[in-house]
Amino acid sequence: MAPTPPEHGPKVWNPDGDSRAAALARALKIDCIEQREAAGCYLFYDDGQLVIGRGDGRREKPMAVDFAAQWQQRQPGREMLLKAIGGRRPGLSVLDATAGLGRDSLLLASYGAEVTLCERHPVVAALLKDGLERAKSDSSVAEIATRMRILEGEWPSATVKDKPFDLIYLDPMFPESKKSAQVKKAMQIFHDLVGPDDDSDSLLPAALAEARHRVVVKRPARAPWLAGMPPQFAVTGKALRFDVYPIKAMPPK
Ligand SMILES: C[S@@+](CC[C@H](N)C(=O)[O-])C[C@H]1O[C@@H](n2cnc3c(N)ncnc32)[C@H](O)[C@@H]1O
Repeated sequence: MAPTPPEHGPKVWNPDGDSRAAALARALKIDCIEQREAAGCYLFYDDGQLVIGRGDGRREKPMAVDFAAQWQQRQPGREMLLKAIGGRRPGLSVLDATAGLGRDSLLLASYGAEVTLCERHPVVAALLKDGLERAKSDSSVAEIATRMRILEGEWPSATVKDKPFDLIYLDPMFPESKKSAQVKKAMQIFHDLVGPDDDSDSLLPAALAEARHRVVVKRPARAPWLAGMPPQFAVTGKALRFDVYPIKAMPPK
């Protein structure tokens, strides 16, 4: 789905006339307001970090991209992703074409990959940029963050032309089942903001045409293949599946 038009998306809440918040509103071309309304959705700086939250403040905690917290809370899916990319290869160039909140990119960079995080939703891209800036000065993730860079825009049109990627990673939004929507209540604000990626089937053929060695697609365990295209193999867990589309042998370790 195309990014939310600014008139329907969040506003910047800037109660203290903070110049950083005002600059953010100008950059995103969205309204900057001093007083929140209960029904609205707002971007604001909370203790130095950019967060997104609802005006009523009760439905869920405001959300930020916090790479240090993500690193602490990393889960077993970690090893599945490592298997799907064929193990650690320092310097492997990876395009995460659907970066979202950058959780998978953080793992990919932690394996030594040089990761470009492409995100088309301007608000999500702003949260990512803020998160990456803070990560660079947090000792628990600073070294990993040196291998991450953000490319704001719609892939494949936002491709970096001078550098083909060894591996392209895709994790488009998948429609939530009722059960998983409840489990992931904390993520509701993100899902409401971004909506379903209805155009996601077009990403796989584009990735297969562009990646040098491999394309990996993350799906819920029982979801159909992206674009109906069977992978050569899959790394499957209880809730998640990584579909692997090799193009040619991975570069030596
Ligand atoms: C499910 S989220 C990805 C979550 C991510 N893997 C993580 O670990 O946080 C999908 C994201 O991809 C973005 N997206 C979808 N299609 C895109 C495209 N063609 N180009 C750039 N971003 C895209 C959406 O805006 C959304 O933020």
